[in-house]
Formats: sequence, structure tokens, C-alpha cells
Amino acid sequence: MQINHNFGKLQTSYLFRDIASKTAAYRADHPAADIISLGIGDVTRPLPAAVVSALHSAVDDMSCAETFQGYPPAFGYDFLLEAIRDGDFRSRGVEIETDEIFVNDGAKSDTANIGDLFGTDNVVAVCDPVYPVYVDANVMSGRGGRFVGDHWTRFVYLTCTPESDFLPALPSEHADILCLCFPNNPTGAAIDKAGLQQFVDWANEHDAVILFDAAYEAFITDDKPHSIYECDGAKTCAIEFRSFSKTAGFTGVRCGYTVVPKELVRDGASLNAMWARRQSTKFNGVPYITQRAAAAVYSPEGAAQCRETIAYYLNNARVIFDALTASGLKCWGAENSPYVWFQAPSGLTSWQLFDTLLHEAQVVGTPGSGFGPAGEGFFRLTAFNTLEKTQTAVARVQKLFSN
Ligand code: MLT
Repeated sequence: MQINHNFGKLQTSYLFRDIASKTAAYRADHPAADIISLGIGDVTRPLPAAVVSALHSAVDDMSCAETFQGYPPAFGYDFLLEAIRDGDFRSRGVEIETDEIFVNDGAKSDTANIGDLFGTDNVVAVCDPVYPVYVDANVMSGRGGRFVGDHWTRFVYLTCTPESDFLPALPSEHADILCLCFPNNPTGAAIDKAGLQQFVDWANEHDAVILFDAAYEAFITDDKPHSIYECDGAKTCAIEFRSFSKTAGFTGVRCGYTVVPKELVRDGASLNAMWARRQSTKFNGVPYITQRAAAAVYSPEGAAQCRETIAYYLNNARVIFDALTASGLKCWGAENSPYVWFQAPSGLTSWQLFDTLLHEAQVVGTPGSGFGPAGEGFFRLTAFNTLEKTQTAVARVQKLFSN
């Protein structure tokens, strides 16, 4: 027998596992240390009250023969699909039909699994820096080629730099699949409608497919597009991923959804029909209880409570941004985004800065180089801790860099 040798090409461990194990090793050596994590983007605020109440009542439904629910519908209950259609799309003037929405256990799984729809010879374009799941999943499926130096030979890298405020340019070489994420993880860059429209037009002209990760759209506070389908022609070239994780505190509850428009046809096949076929074979749906909780996000109270929590995190982001800027560090993000991205001081590499912050300030962040070669020399902090811990963490970082 043969295993899938593409796994052997990957770095030994996933970025956030590396960070967790380095942090655990430090904690083991310094049990009294007050470590503050601004590393992985995991939320800390409790679930919105409307969501908690929906969870309780869904549990009651499960306790009674008349309302008990067994296997969920593979693509989602109508009550949630309709809430998504109306709350996330119709409210913005975008018509998405319920059979174009596929409820899942969070965006991460589908941003990786979507590769099942595409041949392994396709060329994938990724931003650099980039959320590592898109890269690792495509490497596992054989679309990475070889890892030479700090690059995969078969990917097209759309290098994002400070000069363009970390927004990518259109691919200048052939690509079949384009992975985009806005507001961006890790840089916090948000794209305007005209900029996104250029990618949509490019994809339609080149018969490419855009995989659009909109997991952070709820953090947009200005007129930037929340959905790629706000752009003309996006339904013929784009798949969109959404998540309740950061919008409503669901990192531990697990729920999101993928939109695959019926107009999206490649190589003579409907990607919507293929995804439906794939999901009905490989996925058994999201629990009733979870979907009731997700539907509560669209109630007037649930939506207001989510907005309040997002404002809390955006304020944390501003606290981080302002403190680091006052320390003389060059920062990006924090606007329309829960991430602050900054340049490491005095020529430190990303991992050197990680070690310095952990050992000297007991603050955990994410090294930019973990997001790709163009992330070297940069660092990411998240706004998802409490305000108090965020203030303490940035005060320690400020003290460190003012010494
Ligand atoms: C991150 O820190 O980049 C995210 O929390 C990871 C994720 O959403 O999977």
C-alpha cells in the first residue's frame, strides 16, 4: 500500500500547534508566569444572550418526542438557511437562494475540503502572507509541488507588502483557483468594492474560481463589501465561506456556511451540484441545537448583542494599534478587523520576536513568517482577549520596547 506522500511534504506541524507547544513548554518551566495570549484568534466573550436562550430551548426540544430531531438535513435546516439568505444577503441587495447555502461546522473545514471539487493539476494562487489552511490543504491534495527555500513550486504567490497596504495585485501568471480573504487574516487589510470587482472580472475572464473567505466580514464598519456577491458577475466565478466563530463567539460551538452559486459552472459541471453530492456523502450535517443557536444570531436581539461584542473587540484592536504605534512600531489592521499586524522592531525575525515577547513580556502572538515568506519580519496580535488583559499585554510590550 501507499500513503498520501503529499503529507510528508508539509512542515511537521500546523502553525497554531507550534505556538501552543512553545507556550506550553514556557509555562511548564515558569508555572507562576501570567501569560496573556493575543495569539490564535480565539474569542473570550460569552455567547450572546439570545443565542444562549435558543440553545436552552433547542435542548428542551430534544427532550420531548414531539419536537425531537434526529439527523439534520445535510445542507441545513430551512429556518437557518432562510435566516442567512435574508440576514446576510437580501439585506444587502444580494439574491442568494437557500439551495446555494450549505451549513457546516465552521469555515475552516470547508476552505480546506472545497479542494475536492478541483483537479489536482490546477494552479492555486494565494496571497502571501496567507491563512495557512489554504496552503496546507492544497499541499495535502498534491497542488503544492515541492517546497524549495521558503516557497511551494506550484503555487502562484500574490505578495502583499506595506507599499500596497497588504492588498494583493491581480495574478500576472496563469492561475485556476484564487484564494482571497477579506477582511484579511493575518494582515487585517480590507478591500473596497472596486478592488474586489477587479478580481471578479479577472476570474471570469480567465475561467478561474475565487475561493472567498469572508469569516471576518462582521468587523467591517465602513462601506467595504461584506460579500463577494456584492460585485457584478461574482456568481459565475466565486464560492464564499462564512463563519459564526468571530461574528457570534462560536469558536467552541462550531457553525458556518459555504455559498456555492448555481450559476457557477466549470469544465461543463455545476459546482453547486458537485458540492451537494460531496456533502451528502462526506458530511452528516450540523446538530439541530447548533443551528437553532446560529439562527438566533439573526434575531433583532441576537444581532444587536453580536454588534456589541464586535465593537468590544474592535476597541481592543484600537488599544493594541495605538499602543504599538506610540512605541514607534509600524502597524496595519485594527480597522474593519480584529487583527493588528506590525513590523518587528530592530531587525528581529518573526520567531525571534515571538520568543522575546513570550520570555520577556509573557505575551503570546503569532509570528508573521508562519503565514508565508512575505510575513517574515512581521507579527500579528489579536483583539479577542478581554480589554483588561489586552491593556496589560500592550503595556508590557510598550515597556519592553521603550527600554
Ligand atoms: C487565527 O488565529 O488565524 C484563527 O483563529 C484561526 C482559525 O480561525 O482557524
